[in-house]
Amino acid sequence: MNVIANSAVEWYFACHITDVPHNGGVCVKVEDTQIALFHFAHRDEWFASDNECPHRKQMAISRGMLGSHHGEPKVACPFHKKTFSLTDGRCLNSEEGLSIRTYPVKVEEGKVFINIAALNQPFTSTIQTDAYEDQTD
Ligand code: FES
Repeated sequence: MNVIANSAVEWYFACHITDVPHNGGVCVKVEDTQIALFHFAHRDEWFASDNECPHRKQMAISRGMLGSHHGEPKVACPFHKKTFSLTDGRCLNSEEGLSIRTYPVKVEEGKVFINIAALNQPFTSTIQTDAYEDQTD
């Protein structure tokens, strides 16, 4: 799916609801950024995240399998099954401190909009934690 970006708007028209499979995702291109858009029909909810998996930089998140982790919506990358929260983007099954950016989604009159304000914010897909600090002096 390819759309034309207008950086002046925060709520970006992505597609119509009928363009997205139930319990599946599509890739929406906003200028040079690929965003994964999901219709989690089992929960009657919509989610959006970066399409690029931070593990091996594959553009694959939109093809991932949806599920829940203790009630939290998640998506598993189809390559190596790293699993990410669709709420805040943190990786749920890795100690590497990986994360993806997530975006608010709204549906109005059959149209799906993604809030792309986060595209203008700095973001790193690897969270540094104390557990991975170099302990040598
Ligand atoms: S590229 Fe996504 S889990 Fe490895």
